[in-house]
Amino acid sequence: MKLNPGSLFTAMLVTWPVLVTAYTYERLDREKAAVAIIDHQVGLFHLVRDFEPTYFRQQMLGHARIAKAFGLPVVLTTSAQVGPNGPLPREIIDMFPDAPLVQRQGEVNAMDSPEFRTALAGLNRTQVIVGGIATDVCTTFAALSMVEAGYSVFANADASGTTDTLTRDLANQRMINAGVHLLSPAAVLGELMRDWRTPPVAAEPWPLLESLMAAGGMLARSHGSAVESGELMPGQTAIPW
Ligand SMILES: *[C@@H]1O[C@H](CO)[C@@H](O)[C@H](O)[C@H]1NC(C)=O
Repeated sequence: MKLNPGSLFTAMLVTWPVLVTAYTYERLDREKAAVAIIDHQVGLFHLVRDFEPTYFRQQMLGHARIAKAFGLPVVLTTSAQVGPNGPLPREIIDMFPDAPLVQRQGEVNAMDSPEFRTALAGLNRTQVIVGGIATDVCTTFAALSMVEAGYSVFANADASGTTDTLTRDLANQRMINAGVHLLSPAAVLGELMRDWRTPPVAAEPWPLLESLMAAGGMLARSHGSAVESGELMPGQTAIPW
């Protein structure tokens, strides 16, 4: 077919919007996802300064709780844990008595450890939800290598910590540039759950949400207490609902 300039222009008009709108939204899927707990070690915890310690402790445990609640396969790893980096917190180890715990002797990047790579492959999942200390080193290095190895990587943004916010932001940008999905813990929960009618397999969604986001839990408590025994105070009707 001979294209004259007019028909070429028409063809571009027809195809151009299709090209620019083509996007495949890859969601976390509880049948495809595994969780990697990377160097959430009690010694390394002290280096985390981009989150307040109480909040970061909550998110570190929350990362593990999401895996537990959805029954996702887990791989745990530590870096040089006999030294100052220390072990993983006992609660996290106890949550996953059957999961592989790879104690790396030297490799900074967990994916440089053949034992870790084998343990991750053994989970037989294509999506990996990662969290670790430090964001710019242990999390980013492993996440980039996982992308290179063909995994879809989802970084739980509040489950990784580092020394300062500039370092955190640069590391997150580096991961985004490599195609890593950066998600809040609530987004990880919401994408895995998809629908309030399909809750996590081993937990109710509200206690899990409260463990990640205190405000969400307190909201549910306020609502619950109002339904069970609430009444309006004098003057309260001045605030409409
Ligand atoms: C790995 O996962 C695929 C897809 O879910 C499944 O078909 C296959 O049987 C699994 N392999 C093993 C060894 O579990």
